[in-house]
Amino acid sequence: MTETGLQRFSDRVVVVTGGANGIGRACCTRFASEGASIVVADVDAVGGNETVAMVEALGASATFVRLDASSRLDNDEVASAAIEKFGRLDHLVTAAGISHANYVSGDAENEMKWMADRLAYAEKPHLEVFDYDVEEFRKVIDVNLVGTFLAVQACGARMVDAGNGGSIVTIASIAAKHPDAGPIAYTASKSAVWMLTKKLGRMLASANIRVNSIGPGFIETNMTSMLDELPADRMEQLLTNIPMAKRGEAGDIAATAAFLCSADAKYFTGEILHPAGGYFTS
Ligand SMILES: NC(=O)c1ccc[n+]([C@@H]2O[C@H](COP(=O)([O-])OP(=O)(O)OC[C@H]3O[C@@H](n4cnc5c(N)ncnc54)[C@H](O)[C@@H]3O)[C@@H](O)[C@H]2O)c1
Repeated sequence: MTETGLQRFSDRVVVVTGGANGIGRACCTRFASEGASIVVADVDAVGGNETVAMVEALGASATFVRLDASSRLDNDEVASAAIEKFGRLDHLVTAAGISHANYVSGDAENEMKWMADRLAYAEKPHLEVFDYDVEEFRKVIDVNLVGTFLAVQACGARMVDAGNGGSIVTIASIAAKHPDAGPIAYTASKSAVWMLTKKLGRMLASANIRVNSIGPGFIETNMTSMLDELPADRMEQLLTNIPMAKRGEAGDIAATAAFLCSADAKYFTGEILHPAGGYFTS
């Protein structure tokens, strides 16, 4: 049961990509607390199995399936696992994502080095454009954008087969709409995830599948942990763009995903919601 006492997903099955950490994990526990069984899909097997244990501690069922989001085969195996283990598939949340090609969730040292490299371009951002390795650009697009599409293809096909309809939530970002909210390839990938979501919302409506997106602001997870190391003036600058003057919690995004998948949102499709502390008020 959630704090609100809601039980909107009894007997429902939810696939969460990126379920081993942060926003994806919070989605797993939120849906589980509202009665769902969960397929946790991620490259991180240790974190994924920890999420399974957290779901089970809530009295719900979960299984972990290793997923490289950019692999069609892996996505197919994740969707199959939902049917084989739980007999159905009702909802998909695509939270697997990377901020840059070498991103490894939880590797703080790697993130510090990456941010130091970015700050070196602060005075002359144009140089970063010309230095950016195209293979690294492709990797970000592959995981964030192609990965989202492959997950929808694999899971959406199972929803159509079962004939029960379903609902899908993609995780974009405020970077889908504002170029300052992320690095180059990341902003491009998230903007494309947002347009893909609108397109899929239109195309899957006739199959009774709703597709919506969440564009979170700055949320406290492994992906933003290096922001704590920003120079004070840069952190202040970042917070001036957020009227609520703080980062959000992974649970804020999970609550939004649960709303979008629930019957409360039955007239929503092709939309994006921004739990972002007011980022888009200016
Ligand atoms: N934290 C934020 O401020 C924020 C803001 C906007 C959007 N987002 C998005 O939310 C999503 C979740 O990010 P998070 O903040 O929880 O970070 P996180 O690092 O905690 O979670 C990302 C998850 O994706 C997994 N992952 C990475 N590459 C993968 C791959 N190739 N295949 C399968 N899984 C893979 C990681 O192992 C990790 O579990 C991402 O798409 C991110 O872009 C985050």
